[in-house]
This record gives sequence, C-alpha cells and structure tokens, in this order.
Amino acid sequence: MSGKRFFNLLLLTLVVLLGTKGILCEARSTGFAYVTTNGTRFVLNGNSVYLNGFNAYWLMYMASFPANRDNITATFQLAAKSEMNVLRTWAFSDGVERALQTSPGVYNEEMFEGLDFVISESRKYGLPLILSLVNNFADFGGRKQYVQWARESGQTLENDDDFYTNPVVKQYYKNHVKAILTRVNSIIGVPYKDDPMIFAWELINEPRCETDPSGRFVQEWVREMAAFVKFIDSNHLLEIGLEGFYGDSIPPRREFNPGNVHVGTDFISNNQLPGVDFATIHLYPDQWLPNSNDSVQAAFVDKWIEAHIEDSQSVLQKPLVLAEFGKSSKLPGYTQDQRDKYFAKLYEDIYNSSSNRGHW
Ligand SMILES: *[C@@H]1O[C@H](CO)[C@@H](O)[C@H](O)[C@H]1NC(C)=O
Ligand SMILES: *[C@@H]1O[C@H](CO)[C@@H](O)[C@H](O)[C@H]1NC(C)=O
Ligand SMILES: *[C@@H]1O[C@H](CO)[C@@H](O)[C@H](O)[C@H]1NC(C)=O
Ligand SMILES: *[C@@H]1O[C@H](CO)[C@@H](O)[C@H](O)[C@H]1NC(C)=O
Repeated sequence: MSGKRFFNLLLLTLVVLLGTKGILCEARSTGFAYVTTNGTRFVLNGNSVYLNGFNAYWLMYMASFPANRDNITATFQLAAKSEMNVLRTWAFSDGVERALQTSPGVYNEEMFEGLDFVISESRKYGLPLILSLVNNFADFGGRKQYVQWARESGQTLENDDDFYTNPVVKQYYKNHVKAILTRVNSIIGVPYKDDPMIFAWELINEPRCETDPSGRFVQEWVREMAAFVKFIDSNHLLEIGLEGFYGDSIPPRREFNPGNVHVGTDFISNNQLPGVDFATIHLYPDQWLPNSNDSVQAAFVDKWIEAHIEDSQSVLQKPLVLAEFGKSSKLPGYTQDQRDKYFAKLYEDIYNSSSNRGHW
C-alpha cells in the first residue's frame, strides 16, 4: 500500500518450496552471479532460489543519517538470523523533505550515500535487494511530484495520470532510472547496474491509472520503461510493482478482482511484456473489501492467490512473488490472533503451491 504500512510485511515466492539458502553464500563461491529465471523459478548458478524476505521502505532514509546506521546493520542481522534472503525497499524519494531527488535530475549526495550503505550491508549479510524506482502514491513524492515538476517547467497536465503519457514526465522518470542504475556505490565502488546484490528493479510501486480503465496507458508505459531499464542494465531482473488487478485481456479473470475495480492495470498483458521477468501480487483484503466479514475476505484471498498462481504457471510462465501483504491494525475488529491466522493461511497456500505444483 502507500508506503507506511510496510512493517511486518513479508515477501515470498509462490513458486517452489521455501528454501533458505543465502544467495550471497552461493554468489561468493562462484565470484558473484546474477539471479535469472527459468519458467516459474528463480535460478542462481543452476540452482533454484526460493525467496523469503521482507519490506522496509525506510532503509535509505534511515541510513542517510550516519548516526542511525547501527539500526540498518541490526535490521540486516535480524533478517539474516531469520534466514531471510531478499528485501524490498525504495530507491526513490522525490521532492519531499530530505529527498533523494530534490528536483528533476538533482540528487542529494547524503541520501545516495545512505542507499550505498544499504547496498553494502546487503552484501555483508547476503540479503539481495529489490529496489523500487518510483511511487504511484504521493508518499515520498511519487507520480504526483513528477507531474508537478513538469507543470513547473511549463507543461500543461490535467492530472497525475499524465505521468504515464506526458513526454517530459517520462523523460524525468528515465533520467531517474539512469541516475540510479549508473550510480557508483561510494563504499564498494560498484555501479548499481553491475552489482549482483541487487535482485531486481521494480518500475513503480503499485501503478494505477484510474482515468484509463482500458489499461492502454500503463501497458505502453511499462513497455517503454522496461525496455529502457534493460537497455541500460541487462544483468538484473525486472518486475513492474503490480498489485495484481486483472484487466480485459482475459475478461473472465476480472471476476477475481476485489469488487468492480478498474485501476488501469492488467496483470496478464502487463506481465507478458518483454523485459518483465517476474510477476508480483499484493494482498490487502481488509482494505480492498471494506465492510465485508472475515469469511468473505478469506474466500477472496483463496481465489486471488489461486488465480494468480494458475496464470503465472500456464499463461505467463514466469515466477510469481507475493510482494506485499498485511492486515491493518487500525480497522475495526482487528485482533492479533486473527492476523496470525491470516498470515499462517497465506504461508500454507504458498507452501502448498510450491510443494505440489511448482515443479516441472
Ligand atoms: C530450465 O529448466 C529445465 C527443466 O529443469 C531444464 O531442462 C533447462 O535446461 C533449463 N534451462 C536453462 C536455460 O537453464
Ligand atoms: C530501526 O528503527 C526502526 C524505526 O525507528 C524501528 O522500528 C526498528 O525496530 C529499528 N530496528 C532495530 C533492529 O533496531
Ligand atoms: C458474511 O457476509 C456474507 C455476505 O454478506 C454472508 O453471506 C455471510 O453469511 C456472512 N458470514 C458471517 C459468518 O457472518
Ligand atoms: C495444503 O495442502 C494440504 C495437503 O494437501 C491440505 O490439507 C491443506 O488444506 C492445504 N492448505 C491450503 C491453505 O490450501
């Protein structure tokens, strides 16, 4: 969701059995290699890689204060001790207080050094990173900030959805992608695009374009931006950042959406685009189905997971990552016991998918 709900969220593949082999350990033994995919699996040096990780959007921000770096180290230690092997975080903050990108193409070196530190710790603790490049939402700037910057440069823009189509905005975004991918880490001296500790790039956290229910704008944007990322960096995997909503490419799949949503994305056709290496889904039944009871939400969750697993296996033939899920402690009726049961159910679903059907 919009960034601030990331504590406690986990990141898992729905692919095969949950393994816990640290990627760095393997990488070290072969002098570093990049993760690739083969069908629905992630592969490193010929072995399947199974993800088990967490989200922590705040790492760069925290690490930009040298006095707080102990916290980053402690976070990595805790994750490594829990045998996690991937972590997803923000490689953006645009135009806000203590921004990474203070105005188009202008970067705050202190913030970049914070991100450098996060990556160097990821190497130390064997926890590769999924780095997201912009936010759909206004937290940390996001689409809204890019559109605002273009307005300030004299462009006429109707609304934030012009992010996906306006040439000036698209160029700002590409410039940011290039700035991140070509950044040379000030601590370890390795350009991000050549650093195997980066597991994948994410184009945008939870893209939505409500003014275009046809999904054409997001589709064309992903096509262009995925190609741009791959043009600069063909080493790393790429995913879009989708929540998983279905569009019209396979109309009957729309019935699995929560309610009658049209957010302008299409899980199938977006993920079929060249350069998109794996699919993601997010899962917030309590927020997506407000005023519904637990049994309705549980039924939704089952179908949501089942449908996306099926599609990733039979239509996309790409790995699927459950990249965010959670339960809000702020909504009425929340109890920790309920949350734990919900999480346990998700783990079981993932485990079942992996052990029963995730193999060839
Ligand atoms: C992908 O996996 C299949 C099944 O294990 C294997 O036969 C094939 O060689 C693999 N492809 C690559 C490029 O590793
Ligand atoms: C790091 O700081 C965050 C935010 O203040 C806090 O939630 C977290 O518990 C700290 N982590 C560790 C390992 O100290
Ligand atoms: C939950 O809501 C559904 C749909 O409104 C209803 O059919 C069902 O009886 C409710 N279940 C419980 C346990 O209240
Ligand atoms: C997982 O599989 C087991 C054994 O087939 C089954 O009993 C269980 O109900 C399944 N769990 C879920 C959440 O589908």
